[in-house]
Amino acid sequence: MSSKLVDMAEKLMQAVQYNGYGGGASGLKHVEVPIPNPNKDEILLKVEAASINPFDWKVQKGMLRPFLPRKFPYTPCNDVSGEVVDVGAGVKNFKTGDKVIAMLNPLIGGGLAQFAAAKESITVTRPREVSAADAASLPVAGLTALQALSQSAGVKLDGSGQPVNILVTAASGGVGHYAVQLAKLGNTHVTATCGARNVKLVKKLGADEVLDYKTPEGEALISPSGRKYDAVIHCATDIPWSIFEPNLSTNGKVIDITPGLSSMATFALKKLTFSKKQFVPLFLNPKGENLDYLVKLVKEKKLKTVIDSKYPLTKAEDAWAKSMDGHATGKIIVEPK
Ligand SMILES: NC(=O)c1ccc[n+]([C@@H]2O[C@H](COP(=O)([O-])OP(=O)(O)OC[C@H]3O[C@@H](n4cnc5c(N)ncnc54)[C@H](OP(=O)(O)O)[C@@H]3O)[C@@H](O)[C@H]2O)c1
Repeated sequence: MSSKLVDMAEKLMQAVQYNGYGGGASGLKHVEVPIPNPNKDEILLKVEAASINPFDWKVQKGMLRPFLPRKFPYTPCNDVSGEVVDVGAGVKNFKTGDKVIAMLNPLIGGGLAQFAAAKESITVTRPREVSAADAASLPVAGLTALQALSQSAGVKLDGSGQPVNILVTAASGGVGHYAVQLAKLGNTHVTATCGARNVKLVKKLGADEVLDYKTPEGEALISPSGRKYDAVIHCATDIPWSIFEPNLSTNGKVIDITPGLSSMATFALKKLTFSKKQFVPLFLNPKGENLDYLVKLVKEKKLKTVIDSKYPLTKAEDAWAKSMDGHATGKIIVEPK
């Protein structure tokens, strides 16, 4: 360990942790803990912004037990941006003073804190043109939208593919608002669903037609222009297969980013019966090169982040409650000062 790392490890930082499953926002506690020591392949960053994802409070609820968290107390949140303050001995591409974006290992967490240790492999450079908050919004939400569209739905984001009809549900949310914009980089017609208050915003993001999900047509997911969907990037929850099925083209796919027991059963059934219409569960597989691609799109102003709200670390529980409420428009940011 370098003498600088020894110095850092002796110092304390502000962090927000929870000590067991459940409890929601009131289960979060403000603590002082040692600044983490980066391993050989890690960088230590001073966090400028972290973003909250529904995943974070689902882990707290115990929805991924016994795998996550690995141990308590646990410092939640994995999407961070900040400045490199030290690097492990094996780190090649970053140095002190670099501005970066990283996705932390969810087994360990660490985002709701003044400092965090991130693997070099899932850390990328943050260009000057990309704000810390926009950058911290990208990892989980942006990578999920990208993976759903380019890998699961097969949309070519350089526009070179055949024309396809895409439906994005919950297009006002963290994943959905990126999915609409990324889909429009391809040769697509995009139908989107959101609440009435966000229809204008989602059109501005590029959707060709927008359904208010609380109207009968919205509930039935019927395209106003009569299109059948080749792929659905399903970012909402609790919509049964029977609603999707009549709206799909012959080989249409529903890419479900929140697969539960019933959707997994549908997935198995569709496979077993050689159905042309498919249900595809998606579990994010984060890659540094994909994060880099998204950052470049932001830099080139081809992708933007909608920020719902920002909170200081001292009010992280308010940010947590806002995310749990399920009505964010875009991303929720926490900023340690
Ligand atoms: N598989 C993976 O690896 C992965 C990765 C990321 C996220 N996810 C999951 O994907 C889901 C979405 O994540 P997120 O970050 O986008 O959530 P989010 O930002 O919290 O989504 C909130 C938005 O969804 C809208 N919404 C809720 N229900 C809707 C419905 N039935 N139809 C249309 N809009 C609806 C809300 O609009 P109103 O306020 O108008 O109601 C709100 O704007 C979560 O369940 C999350 O856990 C999975």
